[in-house]
Amino acid sequence: MKLMKHLYQVSGVSLAHSYDATAYLIEGSDGLYLLDCGTPDGYQKIISNIRSLGFDPKDIKAIYGTHGHYDHVGAAKLYKDDYGCRLYLHEEDVKQVEEGDQVKTTAEILYGRVFPPCPVDGTIGDGDRFDFGTIKMEVLHTPGHTLGSVCFALDCEGYQFLIAGDTIWGGFSHLIGSNEELWRKSLDKLTNRHFDGYTFGHVGANVIADADRRLEDAKKQFATYYNPWFKAMKDTFIY
Ligand SMILES: [Fe+2]
Repeated sequence: MKLMKHLYQVSGVSLAHSYDATAYLIEGSDGLYLLDCGTPDGYQKIISNIRSLGFDPKDIKAIYGTHGHYDHVGAAKLYKDDYGCRLYLHEEDVKQVEEGDQVKTTAEILYGRVFPPCPVDGTIGDGDRFDFGTIKMEVLHTPGHTLGSVCFALDCEGYQFLIAGDTIWGGFSHLIGSNEELWRKSLDKLTNRHFDGYTFGHVGANVIADADRRLEDAKKQFATYYNPWFKAMKDTFIY
């Protein structure tokens, strides 16, 4: 689905498999770039979505991951094997992806799946800037959900668009290295900037407007109450 000029959403609960986090395709001046890439469960559907938008997956040069979780970058090895895409992550989340850590990637604990280990080609860090042509991108390191979580701040011809991954509305668990103190600072970092619109990891195909107010509201709700009875995606229960 086209979100704006040269920016498309290709994955998410309403576009691929229910396990898939949102993923975005940038049509750069020299090729295609993915921001997150979904799960192996949704991989074929995501590839089909990319083709139906008129693009050839062979032109995907790189995947930039918001963090090293199954629902966000679990399919990276498939893209790499089929199309030779390079994978970039923040250094704090590299090890779990390269080793296929079934807990830290959430693959087993949330989804009952196996994370396909994937070599990471390079790291991205706070302040890194990318020029895709009409779209410019800055990496914001926003640890909290995981230590290697990042957000992508896109400048789409003057429209400031935040791709927040799981830094907004993501889950908290000591099993995945979540850190409340760092997360609060990361939320301050986001609310100290201006964004026209934003999106996050588990939402439909959408650009959420009025971003500054919504991010402030999200921050107000942060960590007031933890639910220890969280139900993993893989589980069904009779309550
Ligand atoms: Fe996550």
